[in-house]
Amino acid sequence: MNRARMVLDKDHKIAEVDPRLYGSFIEHLGRAVYGGIYEPGHPEADEQGFRKDTLKLVRDLNVPIVRYPGGNMVSAYNWEDGVGPLEDRPRRLELAWRTIETNQIGTNEFADWARKAGSEVMMAVNLGTRGIDAARNLLEYCNHPGGTYWSDLRREHGYAEPHAIKTWCLGNEMDGPWQVGQKTPHEYGRIAKETAKAMRLVDPTIELVACGSSNSSMATFPEWESVTLDHTYDEVDYLSLHQYFGNYDNDSQNYLAYTMELDRFIKTVLATCDYIKAKKRSQKTMMLSFDEWNVWYHSKQADQKMDPWTIAPPLLEDHYNFEDALLVGGILITFLKHADRVRMACMAQLVNVIAPIMTENAGAAWKQTIYYPYQDVSVHGRGMSLQPLISSPKMDTREFNDVPWLESAAVHDEASGRLTVFALNRHLRESLTMELQLHGFEGYQLVEHSVLENDDLKAVNTATAQQVRPHSNGRSNFSEGTLQAQLNKASWNVLRLERRPA
Ligand code: AHR
Repeated sequence: MNRARMVLDKDHKIAEVDPRLYGSFIEHLGRAVYGGIYEPGHPEADEQGFRKDTLKLVRDLNVPIVRYPGGNMVSAYNWEDGVGPLEDRPRRLELAWRTIETNQIGTNEFADWARKAGSEVMMAVNLGTRGIDAARNLLEYCNHPGGTYWSDLRREHGYAEPHAIKTWCLGNEMDGPWQVGQKTPHEYGRIAKETAKAMRLVDPTIELVACGSSNSSMATFPEWESVTLDHTYDEVDYLSLHQYFGNYDNDSQNYLAYTMELDRFIKTVLATCDYIKAKKRSQKTMMLSFDEWNVWYHSKQADQKMDPWTIAPPLLEDHYNFEDALLVGGILITFLKHADRVRMACMAQLVNVIAPIMTENAGAAWKQTIYYPYQDVSVHGRGMSLQPLISSPKMDTREFNDVPWLESAAVHDEASGRLTVFALNRHLRESLTMELQLHGFEGYQLVEHSVLENDDLKAVNTATAQQVRPHSNGRSNFSEGTLQAQLNKASWNVLRLERRPA
């Protein structure tokens, strides 16, 4: 029998999970906004044109924060185009995705949508074509109570109360040659620092995220992090990471081992942050915002054939399969293991564009395979991330050595008496028995073992068929402090324990 052992001690803690670890992202890109969250005339549209079916699926995910309005799009975006009377808003060439932006949705409408979704907004400012002035004006418009030009303009636009947006991104992927207004690390470091200073003068309560590298394969990684942090270390609270994965070679066992690369990426960024901390003799520890992550590759070829300058074309519409859901589960486990430093993360994106939620124009809204692990961790992963001690059989894959079959993380919420263990058996052919010893959880009982599994790694969901969805018939038992769980080959498992009522 294949066995993995794990020990969890209630007092062996990593950190309290910041709920913003389960954030997401809506960019003005493809059908994310138009057709995704907003479709006036749709049978499910509310009085503002927001789709209630989409909102319900978002609320069920319990998304704490949504990054907006981009992404690449923000680097040539004039936020002023998106406020004020709808009929006065200009149509613009949207340069990042080469579409037409109608600006029917902008800052105020998105803040309304986020409230309806039960989420906060993570706002990105344009440091591509613009800079300090546009950023500080937008912040004044959003957060200042009134009595000044920009805050009074917001009030005139029908929003007497400030939006109180706490989390702000200083640009997007400014190292990328695809970015409008790409910068060298020195140029970005300088503009980010000065923008941060001005923004903090407007509202000292905000939190600021500086751009890290666009991904770990950038030639300038991690020098970009080192140079930009040298400029910005004292002014910002978080450094961003972005990474997308794809099973380009159709080597699924290797694909499911990409969490090894993710882990290495996070550790390298942390080492770079801590190097700058040491260099500056700083007392401050830099936190990370992994504000774009997901699987993204299924739609890339189709997107190359798309005609430019249309409104809300179906761009980046990846149809996710079962193995993608397994990798997404593994990614979330990796974040939980770094919960002390990775404080925020955004699944990119939320609706239609590389998204857990899909919609049909004038039709249904439905759940992709990746919806389920994201929902599991977002709903049940609130509380203290515990440090698991794991001993698992290991394998080698094409790119990685010593890959443990088992990936696992656990979150304990003392107040409600809930302990949840997330476990991925990434081995494609072998099942695994997980023997979990629990210390300090006397009086707890197992209430559910849900499993996401499928014999077909390439199985997908559609608007009419949910082939990939969890069941609650996992085989496990818990007695005398030991939880024994059967983890089927290629399966995502959620084991939920609760304190018995006194
Ligand atoms: O999420 C899609 C795109 O990926 C974003 O616009 C950009 O920031 C990243 O390259």
